[in-house]
Amino acid sequence: MNSSDYSSLWLCYREIRSTSEKVAVMAADSEESPAKTAFDELKLALSSLFKGIKFSTGEKDCSYLIKLSVSSDLREEEYSLICERDSALISGGSGRGLLYGVFSYIRKTILAGGFPICREQINPANPLRMLNHWDNPDGSIERGYSGQSFYFENKKIISNKRTEMFARAVSSVGINGIVINNVNVGADAGRLITSDYYESLNELSAIFERYGIKLYLSINFASPMDIGGLPTADPLDEGVKNWWKTECKSLFSSVGNLGGFLVKADSEGRAGPFTYGRTHADGANMLAAAVKPFGAVLIWRCFVYNCKQDWRDRKTDRARAAFDNFSPLDGKFSDNVILQVKNGPMDFQVREPVSPLFGAMKNTNLMLEVQAAQEYTGQQRHVCCLLPMFREILDMHICPSENDGKVSDIISRGGKNCGIAAVSNTGDDCNWTGSVFAAANLYGFGRMAFEKDISPEKIIDEWCVLTFGNDKKVIDTVSYILLNSYKAYENYTAPLGMGWLCTPQNHYGPSPLGYEYDRWGTYHFADRNAVGVDRSDKGTGFASLYNEPLSEMYNSPETTPDELKLFFHRLPYDYVLASGKTLIQHIYDSHFEGYEAAEEFSEMWKKLEGMVDEDVYINGVRRFEMQLESARDWRDIINSFFYRLSGIPDEKGRKIY
Ligand code: GCU
Repeated sequence: MNSSDYSSLWLCYREIRSTSEKVAVMAADSEESPAKTAFDELKLALSSLFKGIKFSTGEKDCSYLIKLSVSSDLREEEYSLICERDSALISGGSGRGLLYGVFSYIRKTILAGGFPICREQINPANPLRMLNHWDNPDGSIERGYSGQSFYFENKKIISNKRTEMFARAVSSVGINGIVINNVNVGADAGRLITSDYYESLNELSAIFERYGIKLYLSINFASPMDIGGLPTADPLDEGVKNWWKTECKSLFSSVGNLGGFLVKADSEGRAGPFTYGRTHADGANMLAAAVKPFGAVLIWRCFVYNCKQDWRDRKTDRARAAFDNFSPLDGKFSDNVILQVKNGPMDFQVREPVSPLFGAMKNTNLMLEVQAAQEYTGQQRHVCCLLPMFREILDMHICPSENDGKVSDIISRGGKNCGIAAVSNTGDDCNWTGSVFAAANLYGFGRMAFEKDISPEKIIDEWCVLTFGNDKKVIDTVSYILLNSYKAYENYTAPLGMGWLCTPQNHYGPSPLGYEYDRWGTYHFADRNAVGVDRSDKGTGFASLYNEPLSEMYNSPETTPDELKLFFHRLPYDYVLASGKTLIQHIYDSHFEGYEAAEEFSEMWKKLEGMVDEDVYINGVRRFEMQLESARDWRDIINSFFYRLSGIPDEKGRKIY
């Protein structure tokens, strides 16, 4: 494989100008490998951005001086930039902090079109900023829309130039932890913790380490039985505890730079403590004790619900499941356990309220899980920039306190053991994310995880310039498309917070009854009179799981925001929304408008022919063809479904089938 086989994403350093200047870059006095990486990355970037640049060895004979330093005045991952006309001081609290400072400096240089003049001091908003890959040892990726895995092939772990490029790219936006394998740990992946893999894990982890990234593994709760040959995996059994302790001792002393484990237990068929009548705290704490001597963490997912529900049962509400399972355990988890909570109470639908667990676990370390992989949001065929959604989630006031009640506050208050994770949207496609636009979700996730309060607009502006260069028309077009894409997608797929209208299994395209009579707890109950789930205190009571004032707000249809009306309430088709439209008219209008927006994006993109690289242009054209075909299905099938049920015609007389 050579470097032209894949793209360098937002690190594609286009030339700014040629120069004969002499620049001195003084390395930091540090032995840490990320500090050395910082030095190399800076020189690499400068050589590409300023053709002909010369590097002088001394401070005296240069016209521009860049000093790198590791300083104990800064917190570990913090960096500071002091950039003047003829000098720049880039400091970090550690090698990692310095590396983040260097990448920020490079970004600013590109955005400014020359050496920047600025001051900046940033400590990352979240201690853990992680990617969760759902890659399997056979090379497949669960919910992967960008080809095969670049970590695994035929049960082997791959470390090559491509892995290094990935580490560079994600480290440049501040990612500091990567789980390389799927949360659904099959028989092969279960063996990743065994000595068969020590050598290849070490090779990969050494690459990550240079970029300040720790390696994590998803593990199987039943491993003591599956690979240890024990008769049980009961977390309170002494044999099981010892088995994990011995395995971990061997693993952590053989593989460097390991951050810990991620566990999906008692969920969708995975083993867990429930089998033995134990709690999730019993399970998580037992594993946490085994990794504790190595300074590692145990990340335990809260995606636990009954996936064998009888659709006839109207009392059970899947939305309550994570809360009901975990909130009674608040305060019972060890300090190196982190509970990883999906952003919404269901499962990465286009629109969900924020999970009420974030407002309930005051004495537990929490991590937010979002999905950059576009499982329910167009599978990287539809353009759907998720950053506005991520921002809303982080900004949600889930606890009453004014100062630290936002989700972003809650996931950053657990000392070192908390933060944010995204299910990765990458694969071995040459552009990494299948769709050229989807790379903005990866870039933006990292930027949001790192920089407190950064806006989607700022991120998109940056990403556009770094990816496409400085042409104003290109930047304006791409940022318009990206910033309006989530709303458009929501419009033609998921009206008013109604989820699960998609095709079962592959989750692509519409199938309004696909999940209605199934076992997954995913119902909208549409009939000829009404649609939606009553989650108020007259229904499943889910709304009351929130703190005030949200609980009261969600409890009544009048105060629930329109975009979540049908998530919380069951309403007749002629119900009048806050927008003034009837519910049924909203469904029709939003589906027509969403499709029209997708058409507009496609037309706008076509006008960029010749202004972006040809392969990028064609990638966009092809994806828009797929998006329009699918969006048309969404529009016509959902509209027809509700028209046929309700019998109420569209006020505007448009074609409904
Ligand atoms: C979704 C997804 C699964 C995945 C699961 C999870 O249900 O469709 O493929 O395994 O989430 O997050 O564990």
